[in-house]
Amino acid sequence: MCGIVGYVGWREASPILIKGLHRLEYRGYDSAGVALINEKGELNVFKCKGKVSDLEHFIQGKELAGSIGIAHTRWATHGEPNDANAHPHCSESGEIALIHNGIIENYRVLKEALIENGYTFRSNTDSEVLVNLIEYIRTTNRCPLLEAVRQALRQVVGAYAIAVIERGNPNRIIAARQSSPMVVGIGDGEYFLSSDAASIIEYTRDFVYVNDAEIAVIDRNAPLKVLTLDNHDARIDIRKLELSISQLEKGGYPHFMLKEIYEQPRTLVDCIRGRINPETCEVKLSGVIDHRDRFLQARRIIFVACGTSWHASLIGEHLIESICRIPVEVEYASEFRYRNPILREDDIVIAVSQSGETADTLAAVELARKAGTFVFGICNAVGSSIARATDSGAYIHVGPEIGVASTKAFTGQVTVMAMLALAIGHEKGTVSEAYYHEVAAALLRLPETLEEVLKVAPQIADLSKIFTYARNFIYLGRGYNYPTALEGALKLKEISYIHAEGYPAAEMKHGPIALIDAEMPTVAIATPDHTYEKTASNIEEIKARGGRIIAVCARDDEQVRRSADYVIEVPVITECLMPIVVSVPLQLLAYYIAVYKGRNVDQPRNLAKSVTVE
Ligand code: G6P
Repeated sequence: MCGIVGYVGWREASPILIKGLHRLEYRGYDSAGVALINEKGELNVFKCKGKVSDLEHFIQGKELAGSIGIAHTRWATHGEPNDANAHPHCSESGEIALIHNGIIENYRVLKEALIENGYTFRSNTDSEVLVNLIEYIRTTNRCPLLEAVRQALRQVVGAYAIAVIERGNPNRIIAARQSSPMVVGIGDGEYFLSSDAASIIEYTRDFVYVNDAEIAVIDRNAPLKVLTLDNHDARIDIRKLELSISQLEKGGYPHFMLKEIYEQPRTLVDCIRGRINPETCEVKLSGVIDHRDRFLQARRIIFVACGTSWHASLIGEHLIESICRIPVEVEYASEFRYRNPILREDDIVIAVSQSGETADTLAAVELARKAGTFVFGICNAVGSSIARATDSGAYIHVGPEIGVASTKAFTGQVTVMAMLALAIGHEKGTVSEAYYHEVAAALLRLPETLEEVLKVAPQIADLSKIFTYARNFIYLGRGYNYPTALEGALKLKEISYIHAEGYPAAEMKHGPIALIDAEMPTVAIATPDHTYEKTASNIEEIKARGGRIIAVCARDDEQVRRSADYVIEVPVITECLMPIVVSVPLQLLAYYIAVYKGRNVDQPRNLAKSVTVE
């Protein structure tokens, strides 16, 4: 949700900033801008509506000199995407430039006070209010920029990651954060600033994660300094991050989403590595071993998550309830955080988040920790805010996910949840040795199973052409595959803009069946499980009402083949892991339909990959 990037050092800043913006475009892409200070101390700001490539076009031939600068790619919150609302925003005098990711909740009150003091505004954003507030404090208190930023932030309610530069000072960026991600990369005689360490990994592996209520003073002539909003020195903890640049590129695929779908056999190898012993099938998660008693004594587990991570959590609920016999609840983080939930000491909250930065999930974690509840994180982004805010956790290790529609993170999350359930269940003695070994062995075989599943891609590409006309879709599944149906529907609506609903197959009779006609395709997940026969009957019911059915079923399933219009065959593995297998063709179906509809698959309209506002 908005990407910010900054540079100060010995190189020309603009190419670094533009490259950084491209890498951060997954966070928002409705407008973009850059501010640079040249050697003479002049501040130049360029910004426009559109994607980073539009900005690149716009700045061609402009005055881009400067070895210090800040840049921004926007996902609109306050004010429509247009040139005026694009960042950087300048203070009224034009002396200070600011970029901002987040929401200033009390911006109206602050704005009114500034208007009374003679300020006028060029944009509808909350961010312009902040830059003018900083300027107002700097002028009235006659203080340096750093002090003005500090005092301004003490008046702000809300979430922010900001970077500020001022005319006449070509050496210093002041950056601060509250609930929005921000990291400073330390190079040799140079500093980088970003919303996401991955975007600057080609320049440095050494990062300092700025914490909430901290201000970083990034000065080309001085070591990095971090202060708290109360003006105390904060500890600087330099962390190493190992990522390869190839993980951030498309690698010959037309879209990141397709690359990420195809990566899944390999990402699951990384996810499982060192956690399941291939010889003994023993499952070990250090986050569980280190807190064994907590897990053994847990009376209840509550998952908190959003979007795809919430769907994965619904599968986690099935896995943990059946394997560990611990009651599980699955909550939307955005609901949980405002519900005054009942939390007890023997509860465990599991926060699931690919980015590790989702504002609602982070707030749910903070709420649970305040209540004294043990919080376990299942995140992808190493060193992310949620990963750091939890008591313990397990990374899914699937590598950076850049396509806005989540794919490999979903299969990684479910894989970690299965390992988590096995590890706890084994300790508790609630899982039989035979089942423990069956599931662990199936997990070890997942990579080759997914290689097999991916062979359906050409067939799905053909099938997808037929369905580009559809305006509505329904996805049906039961048991472990009900959440898979929800996830399949979400994928389709996210990237093709076709309305799609996921439903428990049997529940369809209580409403959605009224929608069935030849115009509305049904994707029915009918792989072998203990409700297979019932799902097969649901398919018949749809058929009898003239519906068109795409069934995902086992190879050689003659029964479903007879009633379905199209079948997508998948290999069958142990029931609890079938969501991982079935989700892959559903990802491909959404992908190809979106491609044939000419949609921007990696950057669908209105969405952002990392939602750092509520
Ligand atoms: C956004 C993304 C989704 C993602 C959700 C939760 O809506 O577009 O793909 O599932 O946020 O994100 P998280 O990073 O917390 O898993």
